[in-house]
Amino acid sequence: MKMNGISKTALMCAHCMGNSGIPYCREISLALPQIENITRQIFGDYFKEAMALIPPLLALRHLSLTAAIKATGVKGLLEIGCGLNPRCFILSEDPKFSVVETDLEPIVNLKIELLAQLLRRRYNYYAEVADARSTLDLIRASNLLPAGPIAIACAGLFPYFPISEKNLIVSAINEVMYLRPGSVWLATSQDFITAQQLDMLMANETLRAIINGMHEISEKTFYDNAFPKGDDINEFLNYHRLKFASRKQNDIVPNFPATDLCKGSEIWEMRLV
Ligand SMILES: C[S@@+](CC[C@H](N)C(=O)[O-])C[C@H]1O[C@@H](n2cnc3c(N)ncnc32)[C@H](O)[C@@H]1O
Repeated sequence: MKMNGISKTALMCAHCMGNSGIPYCREISLALPQIENITRQIFGDYFKEAMALIPPLLALRHLSLTAAIKATGVKGLLEIGCGLNPRCFILSEDPKFSVVETDLEPIVNLKIELLAQLLRRRYNYYAEVADARSTLDLIRASNLLPAGPIAIACAGLFPYFPISEKNLIVSAINEVMYLRPGSVWLATSQDFITAQQLDMLMANETLRAIINGMHEISEKTFYDNAFPKGDDINEFLNYHRLKFASRKQNDIVPNFPATDLCKGSEIWEMRLV
């Protein structure tokens, strides 16, 4: 399978999820043997430590976000920046639940190849190229879903965009929610990381090495893109007229053996007011 132009962090996430026991993760990582080396390059000398810390974080994020989507009771999902995450493969096992997952073209092509390899054609599953910053792209993708309120989900996308572009993404999401009253946007607290929180993480030698490894494959650092403080997030959400409710990821999935690093992570549910 071709890996040109594919986000290395998406490949790293897929490798880290490989042994999670979550459906399709093993198959996806076995279909892409190159992703272990890419993950080793990112974490360098701290590969072993990273493989103890990052997989539980990603598995809990996946499980809690998927459970939170189901709990909303909606019958459709627009996933933005889906990477190789299998959520849409899993949710579309229910023929009454429709999904459209979106990302940049190389990932979408790879996802379609994986789908062909792992599943039969599903009439409630779509994979579409969509730039998260484009209102038109998100509306076009969401139009593939049956009428009615939907969930919009993204995980691990926001930290890669400066605030100016986060504004574009949220405006596009809001437009989709406006056109489908009752819709809800679900994200994770990790997507709204602040510079203050990054400072705390960077004080730990292992986490600093892991984060610096991720900075090396990005054009910008997480600091360049972070909200300065918690108040700035409130201001941002107010500006976009979003009402927000949060729940601890570990409360949504209580039997998950969360590590200390996972414990503060939340799922944020946002609705237009
Ligand atoms: C860190 S990965 C997270 C992937 C996935 N959500 C997960 O949890 O494994 C970020 C994803 O955002 C995608 N991405 C980057 N820029 C994008 C854009 N402008 N529009 C849509 N997706 C984008 C990347 O291709 C990548 O798949």
